[in-house]
Amino acid sequence: MTHKPTILLTGGAGYIGSHTYVALVEAGFAPIILDDFSNSSPVVLERLQRICGQAVVCQRGSVADVALVQSLLERHQVAAVVHFAGFKAVGESVAQPLKYYANNLGGMVALLQAMDAAPCRTLVFSSSATVYGDPVRVPITEDFARSHTNPYGHTKLVCEDILASMRNANAALRTGVLRYFNPVGAHPSGLIGEDPLGEPNNLMPYVAQVAVGKREFLNVYGNNYPTPDGTGVRDYIHVQDLAQAHVAALQTLLRGQPSFTVNVGTGQGHSVLEVVHAFEQASQRPVPYRVAPRRAGDVASCYADPTLAQHLLGWRATRSLADMCTDTWRWQSANPNGYKKG
Ligand code: UD1
Repeated sequence: MTHKPTILLTGGAGYIGSHTYVALVEAGFAPIILDDFSNSSPVVLERLQRICGQAVVCQRGSVADVALVQSLLERHQVAAVVHFAGFKAVGESVAQPLKYYANNLGGMVALLQAMDAAPCRTLVFSSSATVYGDPVRVPITEDFARSHTNPYGHTKLVCEDILASMRNANAALRTGVLRYFNPVGAHPSGLIGEDPLGEPNNLMPYVAQVAVGKREFLNVYGNNYPTPDGTGVRDYIHVQDLAQAHVAALQTLLRGQPSFTVNVGTGQGHSVLEVVHAFEQASQRPVPYRVAPRRAGDVASCYADPTLAQHLLGWRATRSLADMCTDTWRWQSANPNGYKKG
C-alpha cells in the first residue's frame, strides 16, 4: 500500500473543514483534525466517520497552542497544514475587534511558529473575497487592489501579508492562499452541512431556515442596487467544489509547484432573488421575503474570475445553484436544528 500523506486541518470540524476532510479521504490523503469546538460540534466527528467508514483522528485544542501543534506535526509526520480555524462573523468583528485580531492573527502566528519548529513547510490558507473590499469592477482577478471594511476582513488581509513575509524569509515555505467567494451547500449525504450559531448572518442558511419553518421571512437587504433585479449579486460556490479546490491546492504544492494565491469561485453571479427562487424550486417550500434597507458594508456585485485557479490547480467548480440549493435543503430538512439533538 502506498503511503498516505497526513494533512492537519485546523478548524477541521467546521463547515468547510469537515467537507474538505471527506474530499481528502476520497483523494487518498490521511487528514487529521485540530479543533477547539468554539464554533463547531463534536457530532461532526461521528458524521465524518459514517461518511468515510473509518475512525477520525481529532485533537481537541487551540491552534494558538504552539507546543500542542508542534507535537501534532511531529507525531503524525504531517506533510501539509490547511488552516481553516478562525472567526468569521463580520458584525461581531466590528463589535469585538480584539477577539478577531487575537484569534485570527494570533492563531496564524502560532501555527507558523509550530510549523517552523517541526518543521513543516506546506500550508493552505482560507482567505476570502472580503480582501477585495468594494471591487472597482467584476469579475475580480487576483491582481485587484486589496482593502478591508471591517476587522474580520482586516485579519484575512494581514494573514495574507504575514504569509508573504514568511515566504520572503524562508524560501522553503510554500503556501496556497485560497480566496473563497460565497461557500454554500452541503455534502449530498445530508450528514454534514453549515450549522450557524444563533441567527444566521449569511443568505443561504437564512433562506434554508425560512423554508424549514424556523424563521418567518427573509429580509432582502436592498432592491435598488445597480444589478439586473436590484438585489445583491454574489458568486455562490458549492462547498463540495470548494473542498475539491483544497485537494487540488495540496496536490499542487506537494508536487513541488510554487506558492500561489487564487480566487475560488464559479465565475457566475446570482442575485438574492435568484437564490430565493432556486431554493423554492429545490425545496418545494415557499420562502417569503420582505425588502429591507441595505446592510451596511454590502457591495452591489461580487464575483470571481476563476481562470487562474483552473490554470494553476487544474480545478474548476462544476456544481450549479440548483445543486447548492438541493444539497442545502437535504441537510436542513434532515437536521432542522443542525447538529443539536431534537
Ligand atoms: C459575507 C461577509 C463577508 C464574508 C462572507 C463569509 C458582509 C458584509 N460580508 O459576505 O465579509 O467573507 O459573508 O461567508 O457581511 N442578504 C440578504 N438577507 C440576509 C442575508 C444576506 O438579503 O438575511 C444578501 C446580502 O445583502 C448579499 C447577499 O445576500 O447581497 C449575500 O450575503 P451574505 O451571505 O451575508 O454574504 P456576503 O455579504 O457576500
